[in-house]
Formats: sequence, structure tokens, C-alpha cells
Amino acid sequence: MNFEDLRAILQYVPQFRGATFVVALDGAVIESPDFSNILLDLAVLRSLNIDVVLVHGAAAQIEALGAKRKVALSNCDGTGVTDEATLEISMDAISRLSHSIMQSLTTVKIRAASTNAIQARPAGIIGGVDARFTGTLDRVDGAMLRSFLDQNILPVVQPLGFDADGRTLRVNSDTVAREIAVALEAAKIIFISLRNPVNTGDFESRQWSSEDAQKILESESGKELPIGFVSKVKQAIRATRDGVPRVHLIGVDRNDALLAELFSNEGVGLMVYADAYHEVRLATPSDADEIYSLIRRAVEDEQLIERPRSEIIANIKDYLVLAIDGNVVGCVAVHLYEEEKVAELACLFVKKGHNGMGYGGILVEAARKQAEKLNASRLFALSTQAAGYLEKAGFEKVDDLSLLPAKRLDQWKGNSRNAVLLVHREY
Ligand SMILES: CC(C)(COP(=O)(O)OP(=O)(O)OC[C@H]1O[C@@H](n2cnc3c(N)ncnc32)[C@H](O)[C@@H]1OP(=O)(O)O)[C@@H](O)C(=O)NCCC(=O)NCCS
Repeated sequence: MNFEDLRAILQYVPQFRGATFVVALDGAVIESPDFSNILLDLAVLRSLNIDVVLVHGAAAQIEALGAKRKVALSNCDGTGVTDEATLEISMDAISRLSHSIMQSLTTVKIRAASTNAIQARPAGIIGGVDARFTGTLDRVDGAMLRSFLDQNILPVVQPLGFDADGRTLRVNSDTVAREIAVALEAAKIIFISLRNPVNTGDFESRQWSSEDAQKILESESGKELPIGFVSKVKQAIRATRDGVPRVHLIGVDRNDALLAELFSNEGVGLMVYADAYHEVRLATPSDADEIYSLIRRAVEDEQLIERPRSEIIANIKDYLVLAIDGNVVGCVAVHLYEEEKVAELACLFVKKGHNGMGYGGILVEAARKQAEKLNASRLFALSTQAAGYLEKAGFEKVDDLSLLPAKRLDQWKGNSRNAVLLVHREY
């Protein structure tokens, strides 16, 4: 790792400080040898003053205990019918699992408490069948969870709920995670499974708005996605609509998955988001240094012409920046030539590592709109290495140099760099 990466990581620290994350573990993860990495990462999150609530599932353990005791189970994940025998197996498996989680948290010096923060009621008849001891969430005792967090105690929540009469009901852990996140106004839910979901499906993007996520689930290919994954995405959609800004789905098959997902712009898993994940905005003077260092490499490679820092500062109002999580990863400038009322698109750049995600296209479109706002009658660009790119983005090559404003034509005559002139087709 170099120091530039460290800088990018540290930018998240103030953003996350004091935030609440709900970490939802599949039962199978707790059995896996990679669970120790998750424990260490939880300790890192705690050390950064991030409040963590741990919710765990237990389907794998319930299935294993059922097989060991030779009991036919009615359902393992708290979504179907829970008969008496399955409830008993579930309670045994879950209490052993909670005990083992407590033990593990103790090894990494995290103070934790197992809670009864979930109030539930019998789910009743689902699809014409009595779900018996399966529960529907009634209320999350947010005050209790918050008081633990305030005392620096990590609450551990089992996939069991209690009704008003104290009866135990089996509940689904993904649903519990969502309800807790909404009740605590958490900044994130992080669902952790054995496998990274982005390896199991062939998705074009790993960042879905909740609307995109809904469309994907409803599409033909969405119908073939694994049930466990679909359940989490559905919870993610509901959570983001109920005010949780981001929901992450990761797998422990990558040993740095939790930290890599949280402390890098693009992450490693799948993210469903509610808010504007990236934004294009007008640059401010405080962006000047960022823009200068961003484009330096492209200048060295002669993709962009050199602009001294002072020139960027002087023309900062011409620049637009694209930021992800507040970090600037791309820029473009729209220079207006007042006399001719003609605008130039210049200094288009997207940072390496973020290429091929459409950000260049977003910046070109933002530049076009900006030119429109400035009442420019034409938007042109001069490019040495990206003419093909600009052609795809709405520009066309022209030979008529008289289309250039007088001042720019003089500069071009002084140093053309054999740049190709392009004009936006919509002007
Ligand atoms: C050109 C640039 C802004 C594109 O940004 P980006 O966010 O990666 O681009 P997008 O995601 O919108 O588009 C990606 C597509 O453009 C293509 N592309 C990228 N750079 C290209 C170039 N110089 N010429 C032709 N096509 C290019 C990619 O191959 C990809 O094609 P595909 O969709 O068929 O797979 C970026 O590569 C960059 O900063 N380059 C260095 C600076 C530069 O040349 N700026 C242009 C000055 S006019």
C-alpha cells in the first residue's frame, strides 16, 4: 500500500465516526475459518468509534443439528413454517451459536451483550399455511440497543423474537438486521455471507440504486438469482427506502472484504444505495489542488495540456468535479469565450481505477448542460488522444478551424499538438 491509498482510506474516518453499522452474519460465516478476520475487522471499526450491532443467522447450524438429531425440519431460515420440533432445534442451535460468538468477541477484547431486543408476534397463516412458531417483527427495542452502544458494548442479536406473553418465535435474521438499522437510523447494513455475491452473478455494475435493484430482481435473469441473495437484496431495497443510506453485501472468501468494502470508493462487494452515490458539482477553490494532482499523470502522458496550478485556481469556476463519497475522482472544464459565445470542453479526466464506469460520459453530459446554462451557441473540444471517445460521447470531428474562437485559434496556431477539433452534435 502506498501513502496515496492511505490518504483515500483516512478520508472515510471522520465520515464514519459516531455512525452506526448493523453487521449481519450468515450462520455459515461463523463456522468458517475466515470468521477470525471479521472479528479483527469489527475491532478496527470499534476503534474508529463506529457503533456496531451484530445480528446473526443460524440456518447452517440449525440444519446441522437437525441432521445430527435426525429431526426433519420444517424450515431453517425463519421464513417458512416453524413446527415445534424445528423451534426446539433452532433454540438449541442458536443459543450455542450465540455463546460461541460471545467467546470469539472476547478474544478480540470486544465487550458484548446478547439481547432480547426483538419483539415479535406469530406470523399467522402464510400462503394458506399456519407458520406456527415463525414470528413477524413487531418492534425493535432501539432504546435498549442504544444504551448498550452508549456504554461501548456491542449488542448481539439472535434470530429469535419474543411475543408479549414471552413465547419464543423464530425470525429471519436478514429482516431483523433491516428493522434494527431503520430503528437506530444506521448509516449502513453489511450483510456478510460465505461467498461474495458479485462472483455468483454476472452484474454490469456493483453499485445499484434501490430502483435498479428492484428492476434487476424483476428481470428474467433476476429470477434465476440464488434465493439467499435475493432475500438480502429485497431487505436492502426496503432498508434504503426506509432511510438507511447504504446496504452492502460481501463474502468472507476475500479475507479483507469488510474493510476493503468500507474504505475504498468502489468497494469489493455489492452495494445498494438510496442517496446520490456520486455527484457532479461545480468546483470550489478548495478543489484546485485535488484537480491539479489528479490531472498531473495525464499531462505527463500528453493526454492533457499542462495547466499550472495558478491557472486552475484562476479559472476554478469553469471546472466541474465528479466526487464519490466526497472524494474527487474526475473533472472537466467548460471555458466560455464571451465574445463568440462559444464554449470549450477541456481537461476531461477520470482517475485510473475508476475508468470504464461511465463517469467520463457523465462528465461530458454535465459539461454539455453547463455550456447550455452559459448560453453558449456551440461546444467544442480539441483532443489528441480521446477524439474517438468524444465521438462516442456526442461530438463529431470537423475540419473547419474558423469555428474556433479567435483567441483559441491563435493558441492553436502557436501549439496545435495536432489536436483534432470536435464539435458537439447538439449545438
Ligand atoms: C477519456 C476518459 C475521460 C474516459 O473516462 P471513463 O470514465 O473511463 O469513460 P467511460 O466509462 O465513460 O467510457 C468507457 C469507454 O470509453 C473508451 N475509452 C476510454 N478512453 C478512450 C480513448 N482515449 N479513446 C477512445 N475510447 C476510449 C473505453 O474503452 C470504454 O469503451 P467501452 O464502453 O466500449 O468499453 C478517461 O479515460 C481519461 O481520463 N483519459 C485520460 C485523459 C484524456 O484523454 N482526456 C480526454 C481529453 S479530451
